[in-house]
This record gives sequence, C-alpha cells and structure tokens, in this order.
Amino acid sequence: MTPLQVIAGKLPEGLHGTLYRNGPGRLERGGVKVGHWFDGDGAILAVHFGQEGARGTYRYVQTEGYLAEEKAGKFLYSNYGMTAPGPIWERWGKSVKNAANTSVIALPDRLLALWEGGLPHALDLETLETQGTENLSYLHKGLSYSAHPKRDPKTGEIFNFGVSIGVPATLHLYCSDERGRIRRQGAVKLDGIPLIHDFVMAGPYLIFCIPPVRINAFPVGFGLQSYSDAMAWKPELGTQILVIDRETLTLVARGEAEPWYQWHFSNGYVEADGTVVIDLVRYEDFKTNSYLGEFVTGETRTVSPAWFWRMRIDPRKAKVLSGVPLLSRSCEFPTMMASEVGQPSQFAYLALYRSGQVIGQDFFGTVGRLDLASGNLVIAPFADGHYPSEPIYVQNLTDLENGWVLTVVYNSAEDSSELWICDASHLDTAPICRLALPQVIPPGFHGTWRSAPPNEGVRKSSG
Ligand SMILES: [Fe+2]
Repeated sequence: MTPLQVIAGKLPEGLHGTLYRNGPGRLERGGVKVGHWFDGDGAILAVHFGQEGARGTYRYVQTEGYLAEEKAGKFLYSNYGMTAPGPIWERWGKSVKNAANTSVIALPDRLLALWEGGLPHALDLETLETQGTENLSYLHKGLSYSAHPKRDPKTGEIFNFGVSIGVPATLHLYCSDERGRIRRQGAVKLDGIPLIHDFVMAGPYLIFCIPPVRINAFPVGFGLQSYSDAMAWKPELGTQILVIDRETLTLVARGEAEPWYQWHFSNGYVEADGTVVIDLVRYEDFKTNSYLGEFVTGETRTVSPAWFWRMRIDPRKAKVLSGVPLLSRSCEFPTMMASEVGQPSQFAYLALYRSGQVIGQDFFGTVGRLDLASGNLVIAPFADGHYPSEPIYVQNLTDLENGWVLTVVYNSAEDSSELWICDASHLDTAPICRLALPQVIPPGFHGTWRSAPPNEGVRKSSG
C-alpha cells in the first residue's frame, strides 16, 4: 500500500472508501504483442481514502493463465483477439485464458475481478491478493459471469448474465443476494452465437439489445481463428431486443429493431405509462472492434464514432418506440449514480472527445456530465495530452445532492498517471485534488467505488 502524494488541491472531506479499477496491465510478453486490447492480463488499481490520506495498490490478477505465462516468459493461450502460439493441432480444443481484465464488483468480504468469458476471480479487498476463481455458490464449469452486473440500490440484489457457447448459444441469467451468492437463475436460448457485453436494468425488467454480430465457433474451437476474427457484422439480422422479468428471470418478449452495435448502457427505468427508457452508447456498425484492436499498436486509424442515445421500448412487445441521440460528441464509458440503477437518473457521466480531436486517431480527451433532463453538457477542462479513464461518480454521503467524479488520467507529456478528483457539480473547474500515482496505469476499462464501512472511521481533513 503506497501513500499517494497530492500534486494539487486537497483531498475532500467525506471522500472515504476505495476506488477499484480494472484493465489490461500489459499488452505484450516476451517481445510479442497481444492481438487486441481485450487480451491484456487484468491488473487492478485500488486507491483507498481513509484516515491516513490516500494510499494505492496496483496488482495483476494472479489467474492460472497469467501465472503459467509468467513462468514460461511467453504467451501460451488463445484469447479474444489472438490464437495460442505453436502448431494448429496443439491449439485444438485448448482453453482460452481468463484475462480477468474487464471490471470489478465489490462484495462485502471480497472484490471480484470480472471477465465475460469465464468465472470471476476473488481478491482481497485491501491487499488485492488473488484468492482464486469464484463460483458464487452456483457457477459450474462452462458457465461465465459477465463484467457488467447491475446492483439494485434498494434490495442489494445483483443481476448478471453469462453466455455459454453451444448450438444455439444460451443466455444464462443470475440474481445474487447482496453477498454475491446466486439465488435465482434463468436461461434463454439465443439465435446463433452473438456478442453480448452489457445489459440494462429498467424497473422490473432486464433489457438485452443483442447486436447483429455472430461468432463462427468452428474455427475458434479448432484454434484457427480468434474470437474477434471469427465475428461477423450481419446488419440484415437487425438488433434483437430481449425483455426479461427480473423476478422470474424469464423472457417477457423478444423483438427486432434496426441494426446497431453497443458495448455499454448507462441506465434504464420505466415511465408511468409502462414504457421502458434506456440510455446507451450506439455505434452504426462493428468497426469499433477494429479500432479497439488497433489500440495495441499505439496507432489507431479506424473511424468509429459512438453516440449517446435514449430509446423507448414497449416491454410487452420488445418493440422500439423511438430513439434519439442526446449528444453530438462521440463518447464512451457511460456511468451514473449507483443509487439510481434501474430508476430515473438526472445525470450521465461520459468519456468524451474534446473539440478538435480526430475521431479514430486519438483517444477520449475529457470527461463530461450530461443533464438528461435539460441536455446541458458540462465538460472538464482537460489540456492536450491528458487522457481520462471511465469517470466514476461518488456520492457525498454527508451532502447527498453533491459528489465527486474520479478518473485516472494519463499525462502523455510526462508519461505519468494521476488520479483526479473533480467536483461533480462544477466539472468545468479545475479538479479539487490531483494525486500522483507511483507508476503509469495503462488505459483500463471499468471500475467501481466502495464506500468505507462505518467502523473504519472518517478522515477529518487532509492536504
Ligand atoms: Fe464494458
């Protein structure tokens, strides 16, 4: 646990808990690069805010694959965007490495590192020591647990899914108690083998928008192609809408809409007339996968803008009633207040391109807060060469109307990483506090905030 130095400003009183973030910690081994940004071994950043100020830890998840490759000094496994080295006959039927690199969820007694193709890994909340894979009292071999669980802020229940590949593929649905133990399950047969990264909770429903990407499992199983290379964009199939009853985990309705692709939703809710409203980041096609793959080379060229949309759905028919873009700026990593999951929320937080940045040739250069009622967008004052991660909103528990936005920032001129703590209500002003991180934290995917339990004490002030 390393004490973190304040570069500017001061730590806000009331910020008491831990930020956890996950992402690929390495994109090469033994001089060989991975095939896609999604292939890197997961490394977790934890920043604790407590009585002694801010302290940080950054550790790889000690997966079986990571340990084996560490020992061998070279890549051994296939993954999302790469096939294992060696002759083809040695790759047949060989398992894919669980990269444990996509997101985290904090349970009361452990942290889970999530990866959508397999089981979660349990880690110590304080030290990030890996304890092993976790079956959550239910998951058995062949099942997976996606990286975008949704926690109901009222009941503490955790909803999630996993896709098992078969002919056809199956969407497994899970509902856990607040300790993570899976208490209810459901299953829905899918058409072909689609790529499903996220879903959205909206009141009593779980909504899946299944984009028209289909995986050809045959070459993957024989080690001839990676998953990414075996995916095809098939717009003629349209995007399929699945409406699931969150209590029974059964299908309410299945419908079709025009084709689009999304990685992420921000939130959903149900209006008084029963209409489901969902907010998501939409792409016109699947070129985003190529852009993210190019990330590994350090030079991107594929133009794949993404727009923040609001869509209305009739849940009884799984029919899209309307859809409109809410922003004219390309964006990703939409987040919102954890206490509003599944209910109307006032704001969405997003990573955005700054004015003047070239989409496709650069990465997000700022973060913003979008007022979903007024459409007003407030943008943080990022300078050139500064790159944020997913913005995470932390509610001020002593002043519930206010809070902070936390984002890990890479400063390319100095080749260093910082953690910025911004005032969410005044996002267009300088950060309240900038903390130096002892090493560069590579661009990551998702994180979470865990408020400190009451018995851990509260820091009164720190500078
Ligand atoms: Fe994601």
